[in-house]
Amino acid sequence: MGIYDDMLKHNESLFRNEYALDYSFLPKAIPYRESQQKFIASCIKPLINDHNGRNVLIHGPPGVGKTAALRHLVKELNESDEFSDKLSIIFVNCWHKNTTYKVVLDLCDEIGYAFVQNKNTEDLIKILAQIINKKSAIFIFDEIDKAEDTDFLYILSEQIYRKSIFLVTNYKSWMLELDDRIRSRLMLEQIEFPQYTKEEMFGILKQRVELALQENCINDNVIGSIALKASELKDIRIGLFLLRESALIAEEKASRQIKQEHVDIAITKINQFTIKNTDELDEEAKNILKIIKDNSGKKIGDLFKVYEKAGGKSSYKTFQRKINKLDEGKFISLERTYAGGNTTIVNKKLTEY
Ligand SMILES: Nc1ncnc2c1ncn2[C@@H]1O[C@H](COP(=O)(O)OP(=O)(O)OP(=O)(O)O)[C@@H](O)[C@H]1O
Ligand SMILES: [Mg+2]
Repeated sequence: MGIYDDMLKHNESLFRNEYALDYSFLPKAIPYRESQQKFIASCIKPLINDHNGRNVLIHGPPGVGKTAALRHLVKELNESDEFSDKLSIIFVNCWHKNTTYKVVLDLCDEIGYAFVQNKNTEDLIKILAQIINKKSAIFIFDEIDKAEDTDFLYILSEQIYRKSIFLVTNYKSWMLELDDRIRSRLMLEQIEFPQYTKEEMFGILKQRVELALQENCINDNVIGSIALKASELKDIRIGLFLLRESALIAEEKASRQIKQEHVDIAITKINQFTIKNTDELDEEAKNILKIIKDNSGKKIGDLFKVYEKAGGKSSYKTFQRKINKLDEGKFISLERTYAGGNTTIVNKKLTEY
């Protein structure tokens, strides 16, 4: 029997629905987030009775179900005739729509207003307000810290009468940088989405296994070892990645079961892709990284002062370049703010691989 013959003849797939392992897949339920979902529901409840809703800052580390919980809310409300008649529900990702003009265009698109040509931001806002104020509105701004300006928050707080605004970010501290005028108008409540425990990660992965894979092709011990890795690396997305890779590796080996040995190979792949070795950095970059770890959350200018005090000799320009390199290598993360002019906040990595 030839090697190709042997490898290719088992062509049954272990996947039932591979899409269920995508990061963008929205499961029917979001377990372990019940209390947060209840809180969110309580904030929009007044809107149903034609009162003003509450505004909320939703914060937590990557992969803890913030986007999933809110997309779930949008889906449920849109699917209910009663709610969708009463509410305009608008979800904006500020990574893509990162200026007031882009946000306003997106809002027009979401509410189906198409005549945007030759109209400036102010014209469009007047039209938007007229349409949206006929109902109550829910605005969700995901990745709000990626927005380059936040004038649209001021405008919405002034011009829309009955609304709940949800702002989603990894950084609770983002709110401190928000313009005082906006902050006092929004009166943001806060809710945290904490990191999942290992057991919760197991539960989430098990739910995905049932959707994505054929029956009985992976046992709980093997799922448990994936949950353990995801929990050590504090990232459920790593768990989803490992599930898919292990299944592909098992398929490649024409195995009908996903075994621990397949998971072990998949784990070496995350090491290759996501673990950057600080040994690869030059001495200067290592020094700067150490300063960032000890002073996480500072503005770049203030960080430069700490660096100079510690004997750093590079110019500010070189320092900035090194910081950008560290960001590209995912050793740190940069966050833009606009308090008193644009600046950058330098954070140590939220998730340490
Ligand atoms: N409780 C949960 N139940 C089922 N799947 C979940 C749960 N929490 C997260 N996930 C899944 O994990 C992935 C990441 O979740 P999500 O996109 O909501 O993270 P996030 O908190 O918005 O992270 P980020 O800050 O990086 O945007 C998604 O595929 C999502 O479906
Ligand atoms: Mg998200």
